[in-house]
Amino acid sequence: MHSSINQIPGDAADRHSTPDQFVADALDRPEVLGWSPERALSGGIYGFNSIDPRSRSFNLVRGRLLELKRSRNMRLVGVVSATPNVGKSFVAANISASLSRDPQIRTYAVDLDLRRGSLSSQFGIIPENGLNEYLAGGGRFETYLLDGEALTIIPTRGGMVHSAELLASARARGMFQAMRRSNPDYLFVCDLPPVFANDDAVATMAYLDAYILVSEEGLTTEREIKDSVEALGRQKLAGVVLNKFKGGVLSDGYGVESYYATGYGAERDD
Ligand SMILES: Nc1ncnc2c1ncn2[C@@H]1O[C@H](COP(=O)(O)OP(=O)(O)OP(=O)(O)O)[C@@H](O)[C@H]1O
Ligand SMILES: [Mg+2]
Repeated sequence: MHSSINQIPGDAADRHSTPDQFVADALDRPEVLGWSPERALSGGIYGFNSIDPRSRSFNLVRGRLLELKRSRNMRLVGVVSATPNVGKSFVAANISASLSRDPQIRTYAVDLDLRRGSLSSQFGIIPENGLNEYLAGGGRFETYLLDGEALTIIPTRGGMVHSAELLASARARGMFQAMRRSNPDYLFVCDLPPVFANDDAVATMAYLDAYILVSEEGLTTEREIKDSVEALGRQKLAGVVLNKFKGGVLSDGYGVESYYATGYGAERDD
């Protein structure tokens, strides 16, 4: 490889589309949303506060992602798992919060779980239009900057949408293109559905540079991890997060651990 690491499929998929100007403008000019540390805690988001021991694992992941941004120009990273309910959205929200404390970058948390999006409820946002409506051609592209934090949320409203068609649309290509062409300081953390729920996670990966695979201690099997990595591509694996790790750093042994030995960025150009 590895001349190829930056010529990711996202570029290839985007080649024949033009960046969406509405998306580009909304990324630069988000609506400011009232926000407070209390709201973060009530949504289970600890990553904003580096003194909180529960933020520690997320800070480790942040370090890894910032390194990939610097060394590999990683701009869009997905958060995914094999099966439902292992804590992807929890991890995505907390990694985004942790990243937002880096003054060099601006972080966007993008809800790409188009059917079961949960970032809006985690952050207490009631969007007028979600990402699914935007992609369907119906609504505005909405971006919400949390007041006092360098974190912008791009929510979706969920529902039984034809997510595969939406993700394959020219509008989706234009959106990802606009994200990729945006200010180089912007970094996008994308919450995804489970790999084995439908084709969406695999389809979306074509637009993304890397992914974090969330697994749950005692629940996710080695086979599921292997099959997920095979489906999503080993080259883009930025790391594995073991959630609900007993004896970990979250309260009541409800912790998070991370492993980064393989995949994206681990291989060298020489
Ligand atoms: N380490 C953790 N500590 C405390 N609560 C957690 C942890 N991980 C997940 N949770 C909680 O478990 C529930 C499920 O997590 P979450 O919604 O993030 O999972 P998910 O993988 O995104 O699910 P889905 O597949 O439905 O999208 C949420 O209420 C979340 O707050
Ligand atoms: Mg989720």
